[in-house]
Amino acid sequence: MSEYVIETKELVKHYNKGAVKAVNGIDLRVRKGEIYAFIGANGSGKSTTIDMISGTLRPTSGEIYVLGLKLPKDRRRLSNRIGIAPQEYAVYLDLTVWENISFFGRLYGLSRKEIREQGEKLISILKLEEKRDVVAEFLSGGMKRRLSIAIALIHQPELILFDEATVGVDPILRAYFWDFFKSLRDDGKTILVTSHVMDEAEKADRIGLMRHGKLIEEGSPSELLSKYNVRNVEELFLLLSGDENINE
Ligand SMILES: Nc1ncnc2c1ncn2[C@@H]1O[C@H](COP(=O)(O)OP(=O)(O)OP(=O)(O)O)[C@@H](O)[C@H]1O
Ligand SMILES: [Mg+2]
Repeated sequence: MSEYVIETKELVKHYNKGAVKAVNGIDLRVRKGEIYAFIGANGSGKSTTIDMISGTLRPTSGEIYVLGLKLPKDRRRLSNRIGIAPQEYAVYLDLTVWENISFFGRLYGLSRKEIREQGEKLISILKLEEKRDVVAEFLSGGMKRRLSIAIALIHQPELILFDEATVGVDPILRAYFWDFFKSLRDDGKTILVTSHVMDEAEKADRIGLMRHGKLIEEGSPSELLSKYNVRNVEELFLLLSGDENINE
């Protein structure tokens, strides 16, 4: 048993028989009620790590404990307790917004009443009221993203994994989302996000910077800014991250 909501030990993922070393030994610890943001260049291993933590991708080696259970062994027992908004949209394009929400609610075993209550709440928080009966295929990118987030939260999960959750979402709504994420955190939920928007990462409780499949630095935004004597997370990223491909 781990005291952390997420704990990984020497987590490794190699693709193509070791030719692609996507994740190279990550020891991550995320506490309950924390918003933790992964940042790092394209290809640094953020999605691969999140996919292993969500149980959708099997590690090459290493250990993963999530909410006190061991992955990938306890994957099924965890699925109702984790909410995932993957980097690629996970919505059914031929269903409407409401049909998507209700489909996923049923999948998680919610009652009709629970689906109605939680679904309505999310539609309102994510400002999807006018799109409720629109077929997902015809939504704009940002609207699809909002629907992805609604689906991830329909079963009120304890741990929320958002891989670039706010890509394509306009800045006003993004700021609003972050207030919403903080309210989930204040309710005791734990949130792991990845982001390329640096002023967004700055709103997290802790940031982990990935490079070449390793967690090379970690801390609260204010700790990291003073440690490296930089003004913002964007400068920190530029200082520590470099270009993944150029440096390979
Ligand atoms: N299915 C796969 N097969 C082979 N290589 C893969 C596969 N998925 C990812 N990779 C490689 O693993 C490395 C890490 O990719 P990953 O998607 O985890 O990075 P990322 O940090 O999420 O990048 P981005 O910011 O672009 O989303 C990259 O070199 C990528 O090309
Ligand atoms: Mg990614």
